Amino acid sequence: MPLINWTSEYAVNVKLLDDQHKEMISSMNEIYDRAEKVVVSPTEVDGLFDRIKVYFMNHFGTEEKYFDLFKYEGTNEHKKAHSDVLVELGELKERYHTNASGALLYELIELLENHLFSHIMKFDKKYTKCFNEHGLY
Ligand SMILES: [Fe+2]
Ligand SMILES: [Fe+2]
Repeated sequence: MPLINWTSEYAVNVKLLDDQHKEMISSMNEIYDRAEKVVVSPTEVDGLFDRIKVYFMNHFGTEEKYFDLFKYEGTNEHKKAHSDVLVELGELKERYHTNASGALLYELIELLENHLFSHIMKFDKKYTKCFNEHGLY
């Protein structure tokens, strides 16, 4: 059973961005599943970190492209929140290299949960009005 389900509460009302959020949720569920089974090899963990980083960079890049395009007023603080997540992710990966513990996978899940839920609610939902007004749904 998936750990988290996407619900309309998380909708930002832009299909492409909602789809990206859903995809991130399913990869988070996958990590949770592996962490539970404790069958994760270090190479696999590295792969997971890299995959998450690619998701984040791609997703943040998409949101930020529209911030710039629409001169969105919340651009600076939102971009800062994105770069903080990437720094946190990098630090976690570093720590994993120093001490390869399965417990770090739970920290990774926590980071993802935090990004996905608090971030969507606190930051992403604020751009809906601006994006929709510029014709982006
Ligand atoms: Fe987002
Ligand atoms: Fe965002």
